[in-house]
Amino acid sequence: MRILGIETSCDETSASVLDNEVVLSNIISSQLVHTRFGGVVPELASRAHLRLLIPVVKQALETAKTNLEQIDGIAVTYGPGLVGALLVGLNFAKGLSVSLKKPFVGVNHMEGHIYGNLLSQKNVKFPIMFLIVSGGHTMLVLMQDYLKYKILGTTRDDAVGEAFDKTAKILKLGYPGGPIIDKLAEDGDPKFVKFPQAFVKDDHFDFSYSGLKTAVLTFLNKHEDDYIKANMSSICASFRLAAVEVLVKKTLRAAKKYKVQAVAVAGGVAANKLLRTMLRDHSVKYGFDFYEPEFQFCTDNAAMIARTGLEYLKRNKPSAQDLNAYPSLKLTSL
Ligand code: KG4
Ligand code: ZN
Repeated sequence: MRILGIETSCDETSASVLDNEVVLSNIISSQLVHTRFGGVVPELASRAHLRLLIPVVKQALETAKTNLEQIDGIAVTYGPGLVGALLVGLNFAKGLSVSLKKPFVGVNHMEGHIYGNLLSQKNVKFPIMFLIVSGGHTMLVLMQDYLKYKILGTTRDDAVGEAFDKTAKILKLGYPGGPIIDKLAEDGDPKFVKFPQAFVKDDHFDFSYSGLKTAVLTFLNKHEDDYIKANMSSICASFRLAAVEVLVKKTLRAAKKYKVQAVAVAGGVAANKLLRTMLRDHSVKYGFDFYEPEFQFCTDNAAMIARTGLEYLKRNKPSAQDLNAYPSLKLTSL
């Protein structure tokens, strides 16, 4: 089955062609228009998707040496995300579906991140403890089987990626903050400042990141600019450790409680070096397999959407033409 995937939920315009589980193309155009605002501007994102989507789809088809007639179905993100941005991709997919007389399926973006990870695994064993960490979400999900999920915990305020982005903005480092802080942190001392880790000792699996960002702000207000600049990499390293360690501890606690086969990490923050290293080391130590996604399938991309769509289309579960975009769509099982 050959699937065209489309992803326009935030600031990446992406299209991909999959031949069953084989990725033939995965074209990602990151919108640069948001950089100078230090965050995504929804109206600009929708307009950029309108401009970029057709060229990106064409390039995905060309790279995959596939024409539209060879496509068996279309998979498109319909939530969660920015409503205007989602509508661009969703309406394009619906139009294509009508004109080609091929089915389309709306895909949950967070489920997409899960399958973005599974794209990189050979022998998948269930149950899996999934840590999904992105700019909009921080979730612990027990994946019992294909399309079967139990959400164990989420963030009560900011997402971890959002904390990276907001902290980078406070530190005047640029956008998106995650990769910049991650790189600077490599040369710093993580013990330089002890930043707080919310709920780290609690039994529940929820997270909170607003306090960490405020703690960085309080630290900055207490010190001179020159001191901050001279110790930037250590401030980043201290922030990164606080942000990541709580994720690792809670994920491993959940993995032991639910006696899973594997621990997995997905979403943009899964690109974080320390998070991967700590999760890998701890998973191996406790006898779990560790599933990590290739970098191209971490941050938003359409291959993960096509891969998720494949699960639905091969079970003959397409979406109806009146499917709407849902900015706060929740992760549910089939
Ligand atoms: O999954 P994604 O591309 O988009 C959303 O669905 O939100 O995730 C983007 C998030 C941003 O907050 C970005 O700063 C973060 O992922 N990110 C990272 C790293 N690379 C991207 N955070 C920490 N370390 C990284 N290396
Ligand atoms: Zn995402």
